[in-house]
Amino acid sequence: MTEQELIKQAFQAREFSYAPYSGFRVGAALETSDGVVYEGCNIENAGYSPTNCAERTAFFKAVSEGCHNFHKIAIVGGKEKGDVVADYAAPCGVCRQVMMEFCNTKDFQIIVAKSIEDYQVFTLEELLPMGFGPDNLKM
Ligand code: THU
Repeated sequence: MTEQELIKQAFQAREFSYAPYSGFRVGAALETSDGVVYEGCNIENAGYSPTNCAERTAFFKAVSEGCHNFHKIAIVGGKEKGDVVADYAAPCGVCRQVMMEFCNTKDFQIIVAKSIEDYQVFTLEELLPMGFGPDNLKM
């Protein structure tokens, strides 16, 4: 799947964002190594801390269905409605840590987009240098 196709799916996922408290609506589209795409949106909560980010929603959907191998993720977020957002929505630290659990830091690509034409691509290593992951716990 191309970067642009994945961004398009992230915008579709964003339509389901449940963000009545922040108004910051996020969508993510996570492509597995087999080419399957899991979409996720942020899901807020009146208790605030149970809120789940769009990226983790996508990851947890995939892992809960048995997938542990991922290729790339596209993320779009912002207060505006529609298929253009004001800024790049970089993943939060908790989501980066979840990516660290399942993804190869040098290969996994994180696409942050304002629109289908305007986006940037990073590796997980670039966004989480010297991250702590499963390898650190190997004997
Ligand atoms: N949010 C995400 O969905 N992903 C991120 O990586 C950063 C933040 C959501 C959580 C919350 O619903 C809203 O954006 C404002 O923080």
